[in-house]
Amino acid sequence: MATSKDKIRNYNANITAVGMYLPEKVLDNHYFEKIVDTNDEWIVSRTGIRERRKEENGATSDMAARAADDLIKNHNINPEEIDVIIVATVTPDMFFPATACLVQEKIGAKNAWGFDLSAACSGFLFALKTGAGLIEGGTYKKVLVIGADKMSTIINYKDRNTCLLFGDAASAVLLEPTEDLNIGVKDSILHCDGSGKESLYMKGGGSLNPPTHETVDQGLHTLYQDGKTVFKEAVKGMADISVEIMQKNNLSSDDVAYLVPHQANLRIIDATANRMGIPKEKAMVNIDKYGNTTAATIPLCLTEYYRDGKLKKGDNLVLAAFGAGFTWGSIYLTWGID
Ligand code: COA
Repeated sequence: MATSKDKIRNYNANITAVGMYLPEKVLDNHYFEKIVDTNDEWIVSRTGIRERRKEENGATSDMAARAADDLIKNHNINPEEIDVIIVATVTPDMFFPATACLVQEKIGAKNAWGFDLSAACSGFLFALKTGAGLIEGGTYKKVLVIGADKMSTIINYKDRNTCLLFGDAASAVLLEPTEDLNIGVKDSILHCDGSGKESLYMKGGGSLNPPTHETVDQGLHTLYQDGKTVFKEAVKGMADISVEIMQKNNLSSDDVAYLVPHQANLRIIDATANRMGIPKEKAMVNIDKYGNTTAATIPLCLTEYYRDGKLKKGDNLVLAAFGAGFTWGSIYLTWGID
């Protein structure tokens, strides 16, 4: 149902195509038993993760381009019609040029401009909202939004607190305008709070701590996370914002077909579903297979559930994420692909 807020728009941004890329190499929990002091039972019970992927054949732009190619092939999209490419990532190929430029060339999107967006695990939501704004404004007809992260390049494989949580993947959605305001992106609530900056970060490599022998020796070029603090904040942040967007749009738990949560920890996903008053089965989950793929988790869920026939046109979805920054947010959309 269109809300009063939607009616002031001529167009909604509708997801019209999806694609994904998963590296072939699988690292199961037994792999980590061999390299750090951990065990399969702890990992499954504390996180819900059984496997994750590791890219051995390219950088983030290669994974992103493969996800985009998958979308282009499956939905018969002409890459020359793509207007804008937004890549959400914290593992760009380089500081510059932007990963979006590298993807633009790799997929032959000759007429596109684009940029990278850095919002860690909330990156896809921030990019989706940005892309939706470009469509709603009426200027652009095809915006490609990609979440892609090669987390294996910033992981300390000696740190049992973090190394087993993350995986590599990329996934993409295409946004196009629709005059049918009953489908597409309908509402969003997004936040950031830099006071969380020291709970989850990579300290080295940027302008604060440029790379030196010392920064390498001190291990500043890999991800650090205070898991307990982030866990507490993530449960509260994701649950509160999911309930808030439901209330704002008068959605009952029956109105929501799926919660599409960032996949950081199965316990955070369950707590969010519980607060929304929806059964666990209505929360999309693939953390068991892929772990936390940062910006890729939410579009990966959408792509898999759509391809498995579990997602139908008209389904109301609440997307929710929490990540480094802190960043967090929720987007309410109605699925619009038949
Ligand atoms: N294997 C075995 N034991 C481990 C372990 C591992 N891989 N990692 C930590 N432990 C131990 C800890 O050392 C601790 O032992 P202690 O009690 O003797 O000190 C115990 O397990 C519990 O540690 P704790 O950190 O409290 O575990 P947890 O239940 O909070 O789970 C995380 C840890 C990282 C899985 C969890 O905190 C988490 O998911 N955090 C948030 C992640 C997130 O949302 N990120 C945001 C987006 S990226």
